[in-house]
Amino acid sequence: MNTKVNICSVELKNPVMTASGTFGSGREFSEFTDLNKLGAVVVKGVAAKPWQGNPPPRIAEVYGGMLNSVGLQNPGADYFIKNDIPFLRQFDTKIVVNICGHSEQEYIDVTEKLRGADVDLLELNISCPNVSEGGMSFGTDPKVAEKVVKAVKKRADKPLIVKLSPNVTDITEIARAAVSGGADALSLINTLTGMKIDVKRRKSVLYRKIGGMSGPAVKPVALAMVYKVCKAVDVPVIGMGGISNAEDALEFIMAGATAVSIGTANFTDPGAAEKVAEGIKKYMSHEGINDLSEIRGIID
Ligand code: SIN
Repeated sequence: MNTKVNICSVELKNPVMTASGTFGSGREFSEFTDLNKLGAVVVKGVAAKPWQGNPPPRIAEVYGGMLNSVGLQNPGADYFIKNDIPFLRQFDTKIVVNICGHSEQEYIDVTEKLRGADVDLLELNISCPNVSEGGMSFGTDPKVAEKVVKAVKKRADKPLIVKLSPNVTDITEIARAAVSGGADALSLINTLTGMKIDVKRRKSVLYRKIGGMSGPAVKPVALAMVYKVCKAVDVPVIGMGGISNAEDALEFIMAGATAVSIGTANFTDPGAAEKVAEGIKKYMSHEGINDLSEIRGIID
């Protein structure tokens, strides 16, 4: 039985990755789960220089998931290269760096800093809803998206995944623009914009008022978008959005995804991603599936 998948010539031992923003550098999860069991670890967004993120409160529980407005807090590329890459390289898993910027120049700067770094893939974050400059503002207009992808791709020395926002009218339009800019693969969805109000305090729960919603409640939305994007473009798609177990992950694969990422589920069960990988293996063995290509995109 072969659980391996291939993303732009990078072979993952299985299709299960972590979702950026939920896994930091992997250090905080490594005591609870075996990172060797994952296809890839996708780290929290890394910028050219350290970012403070947004003031708290920046996390809130909601029905079926959570809101976050972290604002891509991160210690910057130099710290990441010196401390996080050597840590992650102790494990037999692939490393994917989510990269962020406030401007096209900052996206270029971080890409250049990461040239020669010992990572496997880059994931361009043009979908974070929690920053006033950069993030989602680059991923909701096809022309802007194509331009920034092109600029980053020119400097990247690793295959480039572009992470898409669901907060658009037609995600296939942005997907096509990203591919035309040079994206080697796409990942989707990032969070849906959302809000929660404390009626006793008559205040928004999040300091920044609006944040990004993730968790099981967004799964049907994410699945439909992954399905549509897989039909629209000819590059590998990494599906995510509310995946909590192997059955959820298999739905994304049947919709056409090459791999899947586990995000919010890590907060309720730090071993969730490992369990999803194990569950996929069990399903394959039970159903007599030798290779995931037998069921990938089976929904026509
Ligand atoms: C955040 O740090 O605000 C979340 C990450 C993201 O949405 O990309």
